[in-house]
Amino acid sequence: MKIVFVCLGNICRSPTAHGVMEKLVASAGLADRVTIDSAGTGAYHIGELPDARSRAHAAKRGYELAHRARQLTATDIAAFDLVVAMDRQNVRQLRLIAGAPTDKIVLLRSFDPTAPAEAEVPDPWYGGPDGFEEVLDQCERACAGLLAHVGERLRG
Ligand code: 4NP
Repeated sequence: MKIVFVCLGNICRSPTAHGVMEKLVASAGLADRVTIDSAGTGAYHIGELPDARSRAHAAKRGYELAHRARQLTATDIAAFDLVVAMDRQNVRQLRLIAGAPTDKIVLLRSFDPTAPAEAEVPDPWYGGPDGFEEVLDQCERACAGLLAHVGERLRG
């Protein structure tokens, strides 16, 4: 199964979800059955490591974020089983890129049973340190739910 996390820049939110999910999948012994990637809808930061603040906050929780930013393509939507967006603007962009209706495109926090309907992972880029901690909290809760979903799908 192949999962790609998507945000705007691919330097803050989606690489964080990518790192959190990769660790969960490895801990569950599913690394050989689940591929994790991330990408941005925008092209602003292609080739860059995640934001230094994202890396520092993630490192305190034991996640090493070493992804290099890339821009999502229509080919990705065909190639991945799940395209997991951080916010509703990402979802709108992804639907345009997909060009045809698909149920592969979902919001990350839809996998967190404690989150309200349509909840988003807010962009921490312009804010302070609390925003980066909040992104990590939201990614950890939602990725735990996503792992359960993945387990169900793998069992068929
Ligand atoms: P991300 O955050 O979408 O979580 O990676 C952003 C980082 C940078 C920009 C936008 C969003 N930017 O426009 O530079």
